[in-house]
Amino acid sequence: MRRNFIDKRNRVLITAGPTRERIDPVRFISNYATGTFGFEIAEEARRRGNPVTLISGPVNLKIPAGIRFIPVESAMEMRRAVLKEFPRSDCVIMAAAVSDWRVSTIAKKKIKRGRGKLRLELVENADILRELGALKRDKALVGFALETEDLEKNAVKKLKEKNLDLIIVNKTGPGSGAFGGKKIDILMIDRFGNKIGIFNRSKRELAKIILDKVEEFNI
Ligand code: CTP
Repeated sequence: MRRNFIDKRNRVLITAGPTRERIDPVRFISNYATGTFGFEIAEEARRRGNPVTLISGPVNLKIPAGIRFIPVESAMEMRRAVLKEFPRSDCVIMAAAVSDWRVSTIAKKKIKRGRGKLRLELVENADILRELGALKRDKALVGFALETEDLEKNAVKKLKEKNLDLIIVNKTGPGSGAFGGKKIDILMIDRFGNKIGIFNRSKRELAKIILDKVEEFNI
């Protein structure tokens, strides 16, 4: 019989979607993340009986019933929300595609055309997952990695550097399905060095596989 991880890791915190980094009152920088993966994981965790908090950037998805939903826009807002929820979570799954950069100064008024060139200065956003890894103690921490090459090498590096229990690697590039695609391939690597390749599965199926794996840790 499968153990329900509500016994052990009841409160699950999940992040999803892209973040938006404002340029001026009408423009932003973002990425192609749709939020589907994080939402599927949130739904599956709730189905298993876990209290779920979902922190999401702007997406076009229906908010799942029975879930605490916290909408955010920028990476800094996501960081604030995640750090606030972290102490009362047992398991954190960072599926959000957090923007690595933000514009150094957001223009208060709409930037007008006509000057030929526009130079935007970008500054790095904090790595939320890395911060959680440094704080985590007995919590289960799951990260994602989007890679275009050297999947395994880069993922193992992220797993170690960010002190994760599990990392889910998606290859991205034309036709990969990573952004909103129906069926995708992933590589899961756990903190013990076990590597599992899973191919041609829907994000709903993968959500189940990922949560089964988290349950296995029994941290
Ligand atoms: N992440 C985060 N905060 C950031 C950027 C990423 O918490 N500012 C998290 C993502 O939610 C994901 C993981 O870190 O779970 C890996 O994200 P990814 O963009 O693949 O890796 P980076 O660490 O940003 O490294 P790089 O972009 O250089 O590959």
